[in-house]
Amino acid sequence: MEYQELIVKAIVAKEFAYAPYSHFRVGAALLTKSGKIYTGCNIENVGFSATNCAERTAIFKAISDGEREFVAIVVNGDNNDYLAPCGVCRQVLAEFCDLDTFLVILANNKQDYKIMTLGELFPEAFLVENLKKR
Ligand code: THU
Repeated sequence: MEYQELIVKAIVAKEFAYAPYSHFRVGAALLTKSGKIYTGCNIENVGFSATNCAERTAIFKAISDGEREFVAIVVNGDNNDYLAPCGVCRQVLAEFCDLDTFLVILANNKQDYKIMTLGELFPEAFLVENLKKR
């Protein structure tokens, strides 16, 4: 599959970031199994812990639209390198996305990219199976 469209959408989504505190903008573009693309940006808050990352913005938009199945997400940040999702975003992605098949595409500003599975990024994830009592 060609990820160029998804990468461009993540880079454009970054333009909408609300990042007055860190001045570090992040964009994400999430591809659903039905072929739709949901974008997201980081949305900061003066109470820093209320900040929402770009990846979570994208997936929450999709979930609240009824989407439940996902193929891949592109993440692009203001740094000139590849940017991997934070721990909280990995946990949220793991709630809905398969660790072995869901792709996390780390794209830099030159549109070069590196692909990892969610499981590679988030080994030993805490999943619903772990919630079961003995
Ligand atoms: N951020 C994201 O949006 N995604 C990530 O994967 C890493 C961090 C945001 C949160 C905050 O607004 C800023 O980047 C600095 O941490």
